[in-house]
Amino acid sequence: MSEKSQKVIAANWKMNGSLELLHSLSSLPSSKNKIIICPPTTLICKSKEILPREVFIGGQNCNENASGPYTGEISAAMLYESGARYVILGHSERRSIFKESNKLIFNKLLCATKFKLVPILCVGEDLEEKNQGKAKEIIESQLGQCIPKDIDFDDLIIAYEPVWAIGTGLTPKIEDIAEIHRFIRDFLIENFGSKASQVPILYGGSANEKNCAEIMSISDVGGLLVGGASLKKKEFIEISKA
Ligand code: PGA
Repeated sequence: MSEKSQKVIAANWKMNGSLELLHSLSSLPSSKNKIIICPPTTLICKSKEILPREVFIGGQNCNENASGPYTGEISAAMLYESGARYVILGHSERRSIFKESNKLIFNKLLCATKFKLVPILCVGEDLEEKNQGKAKEIIESQLGQCIPKDIDFDDLIIAYEPVWAIGTGLTPKIEDIAEIHRFIRDFLIENFGSKASQVPILYGGSANEKNCAEIMSISDVGGLLVGGASLKKKEFIEISKA
């Protein structure tokens, strides 16, 4: 299977997980999918040692500055040096709890790509926006404002994560996921040209071992970004094979 058509299963551990969980995944079976594990920053170095070689590691956030007096922050270069090759940016928890704006996320993408990390850019509407029929408008402004114009689309992943589906056990209808993914693809091609036609667009929000195969079979779904279910070894192994 060519790199381009390979689907992605990314695990977002958030502020969860442990060395014990990492060790339990040391014999993660190989998969036709590209597997990216994004543990807390403190486990990135160990992930490189413990996880199978074909598993990629990602950070969950980075600072928008290359370095400097930003106590408690982690730079893109530090993530890269510790073994990460990907970084989740613009996650809805960062947007809502830490008040990250599209402009800040744009600057983080610039910094991440400068230091050779592939951003996994998260977009998606919250419940109020969905109920007001504004999902597409919100996603359009997030994509339009967070993606630098000259970004290399070979080194970018988009994740559509409806905020109301994250951690709730709720998922959109299959046809709704399909519609939004097509909308994202069309928007990217219209605004960035045909180079955006192959960018993986992941689905995230209560993905689990039961729904993963059906969601993965939607054309334009390039994989999954998995939160809660990625913390359960057996379930994550099943999802990784989807
Ligand atoms: P969830 O989280 O799978 O627990 O809904 C997904 C995410 O926040 O990336």
